[in-house]
Amino acid sequence: MRRKRLRSLRSVLARSTTFSLDVLDAVPVRVEADVRPGLPGLTLVGLGDTAVREARERVSSAIANAGLKLPQRRMVVHMAPAWLRKRGSSFDLPIACALLAASGQLAPDHLDGVGLVGELSLAGEVRPVSGIVAIALAARDAGLERLMVPVDNAAQAALVEDVDLVPVATLVEAIEVLAGRRAARSAAAPVCDRVDDGLDLADVRGQDDAVRALEIAAAGRHNLLLVGPPGTGKTMLARRLPSILPRLEPTAALDAMRIRSVTGVGQAGVFDDRPPFRAPHHTITPIGIVGGGVPPRAGEVTLAHHGVLFLDEFGEFSRIALEALRQLLEDRFVAIARGGRSALLPSDVQLVAAMNPCPCGRGGLQCRCSEADIERYRRRISGPLLDRIDLLAPVMRPDVEAKDKRSRSSATIAERVLEARERQRARQGCVNAVLNDRGLRDKAAISSEAHALLDELYARGTLSMRGAHRVLRVARTVADLDGDAAVDKSALGRALTMRQDLSSDEPSELVA
Ligand SMILES: Nc1ncnc2c1ncn2[C@@H]1O[C@H](COP(=O)(O)OP(=O)(O)OP(=O)(O)O)[C@@H](O)[C@H]1O
Ligand SMILES: [Mg+2]
Repeated sequence: MRRKRLRSLRSVLARSTTFSLDVLDAVPVRVEADVRPGLPGLTLVGLGDTAVREARERVSSAIANAGLKLPQRRMVVHMAPAWLRKRGSSFDLPIACALLAASGQLAPDHLDGVGLVGELSLAGEVRPVSGIVAIALAARDAGLERLMVPVDNAAQAALVEDVDLVPVATLVEAIEVLAGRRAARSAAAPVCDRVDDGLDLADVRGQDDAVRALEIAAAGRHNLLLVGPPGTGKTMLARRLPSILPRLEPTAALDAMRIRSVTGVGQAGVFDDRPPFRAPHHTITPIGIVGGGVPPRAGEVTLAHHGVLFLDEFGEFSRIALEALRQLLEDRFVAIARGGRSALLPSDVQLVAAMNPCPCGRGGLQCRCSEADIERYRRRISGPLLDRIDLLAPVMRPDVEAKDKRSRSSATIAERVLEARERQRARQGCVNAVLNDRGLRDKAAISSEAHALLDELYARGTLSMRGAHRVLRVARTVADLDGDAAVDKSALGRALTMRQDLSSDEPSELVA
């Protein structure tokens, strides 16, 4: 009798493992439940947001409605590490399981080696959570034997291989599976349908040169600026770029899906290896583009990681946003402040931008803008930003004869792009767009006659040093599309015509 009384006075500790989303990653979190004699009540500590604090009510109701018992004692749940801000409702299931283990309704060692995530309904059903791909990746990296997930998240979590998934639909099922009284259901295989938006370059008419520029941009992953009067198909062309881009490699595809799953963008449970395509409106704030804020969020550059960032009406974006972009295009990551520390978010994007040649949009002879207006309009895009853009392609109104001519289909072009990419990978291990001066010198196999032509243009003053490098990168891609080992004079010539009227580095001479 005395022994039993003593035992009932002891405090009992149980632990479960879960994950908290920290910007783009899932970080392991240890949930400790301490049940000790005292006034009945449940206290949650460990820097949780409102949703985490409300877990108290959800967990209490779910346990009661599942026919289990919440001990009439003092219960403290702590989530470690204490400094990490915890957000969302995914802590319900690990909290409930830790409490049940601390109150003798589940053996504490049944929680060893298992990661648990799930929101609980008041009735005790396990509801889906966000960021499941990131969570599954973190569980794999933490070496957990099993990961218990809500059934509705199972397909998406199954995109990550090498994680033993345990999908559950209710709290009762979770406890029975953990205790070994019920067999775990198998995780649903991911739906492998390849999603397709149906956009094809064959819809475009009379824009052979612009389509060619798009093909080169896709092949070398060059940043591209389309400049032309309204209604010539700039937006139409840019939106069709993903249809000719190579599919992502499995690790990059998983990375893109992880970002989508944490930010809640895109479809869940579908294996999607298309490069992301993001087209934010020009009224977007600099933080919307770059990321940051409180709580810290990924910006459009990160959502477009491994894919394309399309900025339509380029000149209308805020100057601060465009200047921030200039740094990002070089670094390929963003450093954002987050609670006194900083986080690095990936932002390896291909920039495609579109703009009119002047405020009235017509350009050339029909333009009605004043010199000052044109100057102001073009100065919005600074020289250094323009310097990151290898291809500046004019998209002109097609002639009457060319107007109805259909472009080559996306499938045909995609095949050529893929071959050109493979040549680049075999030769230098990266795309031509990221070849620096040394890469161009050592790897690009520029023929001596091409060099001589460049020198001549340089001497004439028509090409600057940085302009020359841009032309060389594009010429390398032109040669790769043709399957040529060396960049000869003709490839260089074609690269130069791609920027025929745009060969100056000054924004004021964007389009003649
Ligand atoms: N080259 C083209 N081939 C086929 N359709 C075209 C072409 N150009 C324009 N169109 C048609 O006109 C519409 C508008 O084109 P789009 O929005 O691409 O023009 P834009 O160059 O982006 O114009 P703006 O400068 O005003 O943004 C398209 O949806 C398409 O139906
Ligand atoms: Mg447009």
